[in-house]
Amino acid sequence: MAGMLEGKSALITGAGSGIGRAAALAFAREGAWVAAADLTLETAQRTLAAIEAAGGQGVAIACDVTDDAAVAAMVAATVNAFGGLDCAFNNAGIAPYQVNAIGVATADIEEAAWQRILDVNLTGVWRCLRHEVAQMRRQGGGAIVNTASIGGLVGLRGSSAYAVSKHAVLGLTKTAAIDHAADNIRVNAVCPGYIETPMTEESMRRAGERILARVPMARLGQPGEIAEAVVWMCSDRASFVTGAAWTVDGGYTAV
Ligand code: NAI
Repeated sequence: MAGMLEGKSALITGAGSGIGRAAALAFAREGAWVAAADLTLETAQRTLAAIEAAGGQGVAIACDVTDDAAVAAMVAATVNAFGGLDCAFNNAGIAPYQVNAIGVATADIEEAAWQRILDVNLTGVWRCLRHEVAQMRRQGGGAIVNTASIGGLVGLRGSSAYAVSKHAVLGLTKTAAIDHAADNIRVNAVCPGYIETPMTEESMRRAGERILARVPMARLGQPGEIAEAVVWMCSDRASFVTGAAWTVDGGYTAV
């Protein structure tokens, strides 16, 4: 049986770890050629090796999404390798602990930490999107998924800049969907709940019990459970889906 993304080319940022890595493997399993991009070539290459070990095909690319020239080069490298760009998963992101701002109240966050989180999580997504759209316009269409969060739907205690960045990713997703529908480009977002990746280790150490008590399914999600939603949104089966925010959170925001 043909895969859901057979013959499509896909670019995934943050593909060296967690959700991005799981998505890269799921895209390849569904028949896509995958450009696995990450901050370091080494982590991107590790994901590519896993794709190839499972019989898939792709390339590994180093790209810092805060560097516009690097983002342009990443999209160009993908198009060079595969002849086009059908799907993009703009997933690279950082958490407050990575800028020493975990558990810091809204009024107390340092401006440098605030700017850094917005630069990676929000402007980084926009940089990727604009270069992807330029290519997709040239070829007549495509599908983009951005990683938001439950922090894009509700406030998260002590994670102000993070929640702001993810709420803004939803604003970006909806507006881009409207602006680029005429270009035959669909733009959607996925809103993961607490997922078992390196990003959540620190939060789980600090407040694991409190977090799980708030999740109706009483467990962390697995990265592959996010990847399945992203594969579907990028596939032709989602042909009328654009501007949507798909929550995959074990019921967290249903409470
Ligand atoms: P992770 O820490 O395992 O992976 C993040 C990846 O992004 C890493 O490979 C890292 O190298 C890359 N990255 C970080 N800064 C970058 C930059 N400037 N340029 C390029 N790549 C960069 O985290 P995880 O959990 O896989 O997170 C992926 C996305 O999912 C993030 O946007 C995160 O905010 C979001 N998310 C994660 C949740 C979770 O519970 N793990 C919940 C909701 C959203």
